[in-house]
Amino acid sequence: MNITDFDIYKDILKEKSGLVLSQDKSYLVESRLNPVAKKWGYEGISDMTKVLRGVPPKDLVNDIIEAMTTNETSFFRDTKPFDVFKNTVLPYYQTNPNSSKHLKIWCAAASSGQEPYSLAMLLKEEAAKMPDWRFSISATDISHEILAQAKDGIYSQFEVQRGLPITLLMKYFIQDGDKWIIKDEIKKMVNFKYFNLLDGMSNLGKFDIIFCRNVLIYFDQPTKKDIMERASKQMADDGFFFLGGAETVLGITEDLKIVPEVRGLYTKTGSVHCEVKTPAVATG
Ligand SMILES: C[S@@+](CC[C@H](N)C(=O)[O-])C[C@H]1O[C@@H](n2cnc3c(N)ncnc32)[C@H](O)[C@@H]1O
Repeated sequence: MNITDFDIYKDILKEKSGLVLSQDKSYLVESRLNPVAKKWGYEGISDMTKVLRGVPPKDLVNDIIEAMTTNETSFFRDTKPFDVFKNTVLPYYQTNPNSSKHLKIWCAAASSGQEPYSLAMLLKEEAAKMPDWRFSISATDISHEILAQAKDGIYSQFEVQRGLPITLLMKYFIQDGDKWIIKDEIKKMVNFKYFNLLDGMSNLGKFDIIFCRNVLIYFDQPTKKDIMERASKQMADDGFFFLGGAETVLGITEDLKIVPEVRGLYTKTGSVHCEVKTPAVATG
């Protein structure tokens, strides 16, 4: 792919999704966009690029964004954040109930659903400790295709083997041939919808807990800062914010404060007192 063509894709992706592409990703652009060109009936990527120089159809741009997003995820990914959720964050609400006893959670880059469904299963397991509480999980993503998969809640043997404890698999999934279907009791706890993190967030409402994991790594510093600061405005004053293991707020924004003892956990004011416990396992 020549540099001028590459720059067209680089600019579209940055503007429409935040994704930053370095020049060495030219091979990736080519391999992921060739099927898109084929689907749209173009001879190849260079023909598709010509269309993009004019006013391209919105659906074509969406297909390009979908093809370039990385949807890698797994149940209870990295384990630790879910330990922290169960052993530090939930006990905070058990001892400091909000007036409505309604815990609102936002998974801001939910991919194929493993992250919000992991939280839903965890909440189901912990529900006895919070008897009069309601839990809402809003799960959003920029990719319509991945959201459709998430809503279906159907996973392969390989996917359920990655991180999901066997007890939870047996309890909350139904086997159908070589597929595993998540039960309705978990599915109905999660509300999936399209949302681009570059868009205004005020219509989303307020959340107690935001999971924004393993998406900001694809963005440049000003975009990370902008998203973190706008997301923090959607948090309750005593809310919690989770980032991925390779992500941090340090050097990016002061609007989210680290919880010193807990890597990957942030609060809005820095004055939320949560007792940090070190558990043995995530979900048992
Ligand atoms: C690597 S996955 C992370 C999934 C999950 N949070 C986890 O940690 O396992 C990143 C997700 O971010 C989504 N994404 C990328 N850019 C986005 C944007 N601008 N707005 C919303 N979602 C976006 C992708 O479609 C993808 O599903």
